[in-house]
Amino acid sequence: MRITKTFFETRLVATGEVGFVPTMGFLHEGHLALIEAARAANETVIMSLFVNPLQFDRDGDLARYPRDLERDVELAAAAGADVVFAPELEEMYPGEQFTRVNVNRLSDEMEGPNRPGHFEGVATVVAKLLAGVQPDRSYFGRKDAQQLAIVKRMAADLSFPGSIIGVPIVRESDGLALSSRNVFLSSQEREEALALNRGLMAAADAAEQGVRRTSELVGAVHGEIGTESNLSVEYVTLASQDLVEPLDELDRPAFLALAAWSGKTRLIDNVHLDEANGGFVADRGGRLETTSVLYGPGGPGGGRG
Ligand code: PAF
Repeated sequence: MRITKTFFETRLVATGEVGFVPTMGFLHEGHLALIEAARAANETVIMSLFVNPLQFDRDGDLARYPRDLERDVELAAAAGADVVFAPELEEMYPGEQFTRVNVNRLSDEMEGPNRPGHFEGVATVVAKLLAGVQPDRSYFGRKDAQQLAIVKRMAADLSFPGSIIGVPIVRESDGLALSSRNVFLSSQEREEALALNRGLMAAADAAEQGVRRTSELVGAVHGEIGTESNLSVEYVTLASQDLVEPLDELDRPAFLALAAWSGKTRLIDNVHLDEANGGFVADRGGRLETTSVLYGPGGPGGGRG
């Protein structure tokens, strides 16, 4: 395992086809699944670890973001990464920056209006990482469905060589989608938050059984969440996978996505609905059989959980 600090060094140590996993660190099994997917298809696996200031839209969030390079290097190596590229701020943003990447339309809905500037920050840093690392394949989680769509479109529009690959969500054993933020949930909030997963799974069942009307699919999600009065829902939206266009009915590859607050913690989750055999099949993600590394001794949960 190598730890590199510059793009130059990172390109120098890579051989053969390169699989790339961009992260902001504090790894959980969702990240490890990306590394494993990269390991299975590439000679060199590079994971980047950079907490990108450009994409933080809420005061204090950047400062609070958990960081532990030693823990992340250990987890990344065990999952099969060859290189951890952990640049300093000066390598990523040397001097004043005059150029930003702005992906129009795809950020108009869902996370976009709720997180002003966020996707411009994501698209800019991902463009810089792809340009600097020059991977053959890059791996992004389906959990951030809108981010995945934006990165795919940006890579196509700006002619980045290499493919962008979406990897299914990893869920905790009770169905809660893995997120570093899960450790901030009290046990009551966590119990209530499970309604999000139940709602999405009910909608996934309905879609697989032939329900096409968005109002019915969204209604299935609200049917579960409605029983948990402490959850405050920002949106439940059915959108196309490529352009993130809200749909009146399920008539193309789509994702049903939501964001909700449980106490002071904002959670997002989704199911992707992929076309298969003339119908739709739901990608519900996988479930852990054991407790997440997030709750291990070095995790932000510090053994809670
Ligand atoms: O998904 C993330 O962790 C970040 O948005 C990414 C893609 C690493 C860019 O900073």
